[in-house]
Amino acid sequence: MANAVAEGAKSGAGVEVELAYYIEPDSLVDFDAILVGAPTYYHEMPIEVKKLFEEAAAKGVSLKGKIGAAFGSYGWSGEAPKLVLEIMKNKFEMVSIEPPLLMKYTPDQNSLNACRNLGKRVSESLIHKV
Ligand SMILES: Cc1cc2nc3c(=O)[nH]c(=O)nc-3n(C[C@H](O)[C@H](O)[C@H](O)COP(=O)(O)O)c2cc1C
Repeated sequence: MANAVAEGAKSGAGVEVELAYYIEPDSLVDFDAILVGAPTYYHEMPIEVKKLFEEAAAKGVSLKGKIGAAFGSYGWSGEAPKLVLEIMKNKFEMVSIEPPLLMKYTPDQNSLNACRNLGKRVSESLIHKV
């Protein structure tokens, strides 16, 4: 899913994309848009994602006005991407791209196209913001 989102985001002229499994909370300020992939486990986002936001908040990292998007695979309830987007919007005052993108279990080609579209929407929002 992340690869397809990144692919879609790269389609915007002049948009640079960095795909990372891990990022230091301080480094989040270096980006104009942050897209988080979060599968749902036990009705929650993964602990690594939670820690990233907790540490960014504790350090006073400002993400205000940056574009935020969330996506993730799920089995039956799919809370994680919704929670991620909620934190981006309410805690960090980011501009959220709604709705979060949820895919049941392993994404098929249609689902991957939806991921590409999400990436594209984010890059278009960035281009219009400049
Ligand atoms: C231990 C465990 C707990 C899970 N808990 C949830 C859950 O609370 N809600 C949900 O929608 N899916 C749940 N799932 C399903 C996963 O979200 C689903 O398998 C998803 O595709 C995993 O994505 P990943 O392979 O990228 O980690 C759970 C799966 C496992 C193995």
